[in-house]
This record gives sequence, structure tokens and C-alpha cells, in this order.
Amino acid sequence: MPLKQYIESNSERFLGELVNLLKIPSVSADPAYKNEVFKAADFVRESLEAAGVDKAEICPTAGYPIVYGEKITDPEAPTVLVYGHYDVQPADPLELWDSPPFEPVIKKTKLHPNGAIFARGSADDKGQFFMHVKAFEAMLASGELSCNVKFMIEGEEEVGSENLDIFVRANKEKLAADVVLISDTSMISLEHPSVTVGLRGLAYMQVEVTGPDKDLHSGTFGGSVANPINVLCKMIASLHDENNHITIPGFYDQVQEYGKEYRDKLNQAPFDEGEFKRKLDIKETYGEKGYTTIERVGIRPTLDVNGIWGGYIGEGAKTVLPSKASAKISMRLVPDQDHKSIAKLFENHFKSIAPPAVKVKVVPHHGGQAAVVPTDSIGYKAAEAAIQEAFGKKAIPTREGGSIPITALFQKVLGLDPILLGFGLDTDAIHSPNEHYGLDNYFKGIETIALFFKHFNLLGKKK
Ligand code: BES
Ligand code: MN
Ligand code: MN
Repeated sequence: MPLKQYIESNSERFLGELVNLLKIPSVSADPAYKNEVFKAADFVRESLEAAGVDKAEICPTAGYPIVYGEKITDPEAPTVLVYGHYDVQPADPLELWDSPPFEPVIKKTKLHPNGAIFARGSADDKGQFFMHVKAFEAMLASGELSCNVKFMIEGEEEVGSENLDIFVRANKEKLAADVVLISDTSMISLEHPSVTVGLRGLAYMQVEVTGPDKDLHSGTFGGSVANPINVLCKMIASLHDENNHITIPGFYDQVQEYGKEYRDKLNQAPFDEGEFKRKLDIKETYGEKGYTTIERVGIRPTLDVNGIWGGYIGEGAKTVLPSKASAKISMRLVPDQDHKSIAKLFENHFKSIAPPAVKVKVVPHHGGQAAVVPTDSIGYKAAEAAIQEAFGKKAIPTREGGSIPITALFQKVLGLDPILLGFGLDTDAIHSPNEHYGLDNYFKGIETIALFFKHFNLLGKKK
């Protein structure tokens, strides 16, 4: 049976299997879900086996396992390494979901007239990596598998991929390939198919400001000792200047500035600022002076408070001068900014701006480097050709604001070009209540992935 027909005649099963995977609450951040994360790994291994790999194994790590599978059809043929993650973000706040996060439902929406599947992980990343399993099954069943495949699906992406880092460094030979293919990003839309050519890096910090050694009466003591929340807010506010530039000394030293030509091209991507604002219910966009929204997200570094707490936040009013205040602060980084150096710069600066009246603690969380995808590689050309054939349109290169720290590691340690062929949409609500993934995106993705393999093999031969 031809490939396209195989996908069509098995579409119901392809969807049903994804539904079953989405029912497993594999939340890597919360130890309460430990067994479920392991269960998801088993599910992935079994799916690979059922799809027809030569071998599929659970590779234990110090944390959650990496599922590895491979099918070597011809040692002379090119090899595609597929990366994805089976872990998901926590689902809370639960009360904001229209249906339970781990009981997938298919609903039609304005953007998805043919339906979307609502569940935590539907777009990030279960729905996306599972397209590869199904594309592989379809290629194999229709006799069209032209490349060797290696799958590496991990369970700790949402918590920093630390054990994957170790695994990759220790298994260079096992993972040897010609390209690494990742579907864990977005596209502009099905009408404007795009390929991601850059991701930002990340440095994530937690800070704690301590004033007096205990909570105090805000009348008896207010005005005479430093209030750590007041101080923390002032310190945080000082991290941006009036143009929304970040004020940490040295922060921009390694930031790549792009010329007019590159920026113009980036800004040509279809983007409707009015619609962007309407969808988010904001009157104005906000960000670094001198840059467009596309640039602010794609090629500029940022600093954001992710959470802030301290003092009394219960019912009613309690007059208290708190002892401590804390915040979680993340910085999205661009190519050449090293996340460890930036974390250090932040720490030094943050301590230096604290008044002597408080003590400051700074603890770095996980981080990762930014990535840029070269557009002159066989892999990128294969992605363009696959999109051209599947959508009848030229792929638009985009730089996305999110991070997949392991991408840069694949480039550095395995020497592989990463291809970020994602089929999600910005409106999928990943990491947010009511996450969903369009059925059209899912099936179009399966088709496009199979075409990627075809073109990757063809273009490799022409070399
Ligand atoms: N799939 C996302 C990254 C992403 C989302 C890239 C949208 C492009 C568009 C990934 O699962 C993720 O959430 N990464 C984290 C970083 C990680 C270290 C926790 C992120 O970007 O916050
Ligand atoms: Mn992801
Ligand atoms: Mn994610």
C-alpha cells in the first residue's frame, strides 16, 4: 500500500494510540508521578517495537530512562537520529482546564475545524514525537523507508535534560548519524509552513533576600529596617533600563547583532501584530526598544520574573514586615551567550546591587545554550523539499523564543545538524491549561516527516 494511503487507512488507530499515550501523566518535575513517567517510557518502547524497529531498549539513567530504538536497513544509507521527549509539564492550575488534562478529548475549534486533541503533552511533545513513530511505521509498511533510523526519546526534557547530556557524551558511537530530526517546536500555521532555524538558550535563577531574622510588626518596626520585599522589587526593577535593555554589566557582550538584511528577512515572515495583541488581550506589545516583536522573541535576550513571593498573602490583612522575599528569574539567551557565564554575571550583579541592610542568596537552576540551525545543509534542504511536497509551499525560516538545550549539545558533541521540524502552533497552549494539538497538524506532520526521509536520502545521493 502506498505511504499516503497507509497513513489514511490507519488514521484512526494512529490517533487512538496517541490518546493512550496522553492518558499517562508523565510529569517529570513532580516526584508524585514517578511511576507514571516510567510507564510512559515502557509505552514508548513498546510503540517502537510495534512499529517495526530492530531493537528497542530502555536505557536507565540516574533519573528517568531514555528510550532508544533503531532500524538499520542498509549500512550505506544515511541515518536519521530522531529526538523527542515523553515527559510533560505539570498540569496545574487544574481548575483552568475545560477537561481533565490526562483524559484526552477531541474538540473542534475555530482554528482547528477538523478537531484538536486536548491533553497535557498533546503538542509538547507526545503528539509531536509520536508522529515520528507513526511515520516510521508507515514508511516501513509501505516499503519506503530509505534511511536508517535511530530514536532517542527522553523523559527529562522539561527538567533540564541533565542525564541525556551524560548519555549523549557516553554513547557517541551508538548515536552516530547524519542528521538529528526534532519535532518539538512550532510552525507559523498550516497555511504558512515554517522551519525553526534558531532557539534561545536559558539561564534560570532563584534569589532570596533576607532582612530581619524573623517577621516583625510592620508598625513597631516599619521604616526602621529594610523590608526584603520592597528591596527585592527595587532590585528587580533596576534590571531593565527605560529602553527595556538589561542592565547587568557584560550581559550583551557576546550577543550577536544582525545586519539589516537578516533582520528584514526575519521580519518578512507573516505576522499580524494586531491579531497577536487581540489574542492575548493586550493593548500594546512591550519590549526592548528598537526591535520588532519577531526580533524581540527570536534574536534578542530577555530577563523575566517567573514567580515572586514573600510576606502575607492569605485572606484579609496582616500587618507584617516579612523576613524574606524570593523570586524565580529566567533569562532567555541568544547564540554565543554562554548560560553559565550569564548565570555568574547575574549572581555578581544581583549581589552588588543589594543594599547592606539585606542578605542575598542566588541559586542557579538548569540552563542551556541557544542554537542556530545552518540552512545550507542537506538536512535543511530535505526539510524544505518535504514541506514543498507536503504543503505545496516554500518553508519560511523562523527563529523561536523557546529553548531545547540539548539541540546545541547534539551539534557540539555529535557534530550533527539539528533539523527543527515542528508542527505545533503558538496557540497550542503548551505549558498552559487546555494544551491541544490539531489533528491536521498531527497527520500533516506524519506525512511531512516521511517525505523528509525520502528527500534526505535523495539529496544525500546527489552529493
Ligand atoms: N518544546 C519546548 C521548547 C519550545 C517551545 C521551543 C515552543 C520552541 C517553541 C520545550 O519542551 C520546553 O518547554 N523547553 C523549556 C526549557 C527546558 C530547559 C525546561 C523552555 O523553553 O522553557
Ligand atoms: Mn518540548
Ligand atoms: Mn516544554
